[in-house]
Amino acid sequence: MAKKMTITSIKKSKGAHPLVMITAYDALFARLFESSADMILVGDSLNMSFAGRADTLSATLSQMIYHTNAVAMGAKNSFIVCDMPFGTYINKDEALRNGIKVFQESSADALKIEGGEDKAEIVSHLCSNGIAVCGHIGLLPQAFRSEGGYKVKGKTEDEKIQLIKDAKAIEKAGAFCMVIEGVKAEVAAEVAASVKIPVIGIGAGADVDGQVLVFSDMLGLFEEFTPKFVKKYLDGASLVKEAIKSYADEVKTRAFPQDIHTY
Ligand code: KIV
Repeated sequence: MAKKMTITSIKKSKGAHPLVMITAYDALFARLFESSADMILVGDSLNMSFAGRADTLSATLSQMIYHTNAVAMGAKNSFIVCDMPFGTYINKDEALRNGIKVFQESSADALKIEGGEDKAEIVSHLCSNGIAVCGHIGLLPQAFRSEGGYKVKGKTEDEKIQLIKDAKAIEKAGAFCMVIEGVKAEVAAEVAASVKIPVIGIGAGADVDGQVLVFSDMLGLFEEFTPKFVKKYLDGASLVKEAIKSYADEVKTRAFPQDIHTY
């Protein structure tokens, strides 16, 4: 079994090997992912693919703690990052109160919070109180309603300059790594090169320090929409539907159960 990653080994991976991060929301999938992923993210994306909501904003802290515990049960040897949901880190005191709650009530190894320079003070307050933080810059899913959709970043010189400022501010505040989402590839590469901590991309091209995907997207289970940056490694939805249809057909024709399934 591979050794569990630590903050130190994650930081040291920069320049040595790309980090593999994948989301999981339950013990069943987490157990299946454990041997191949360096880090498991209990993303608030669970509010969409698991809970069926239109965006991530209505995820709650208790849901995140519940799912983080489920993932930790399935992947005892994985480095687990719990996403802080919308509205739980609006200032440094709230962030610390909620961060402590997650750390006390789950075995999350780190928290992820969305935002750049504007969240540096919060990141610093969490880090100086013993909470490891993974940043998240670029396209911020929690800004879906305020920005009127998912907006790719890094399209202008000003946006590029801001992204580099964001990354540097998050690094200076003490984050051990960060996610960069929905950013033009050449800009994401410059951002990654501007800091010493790993920058893990999603929709940010290949020249960053690792990749993260939402598992239900890459397994082809989430059918509502597929972002351009997702590669489907499995046509999960078709396979599941075929299997359920076979089961239903066999129940209806009494082909299942057979003697081997019978006591
Ligand atoms: O919630 C999530 O799954 C995420 C990823 C998109 C990085 O934040």
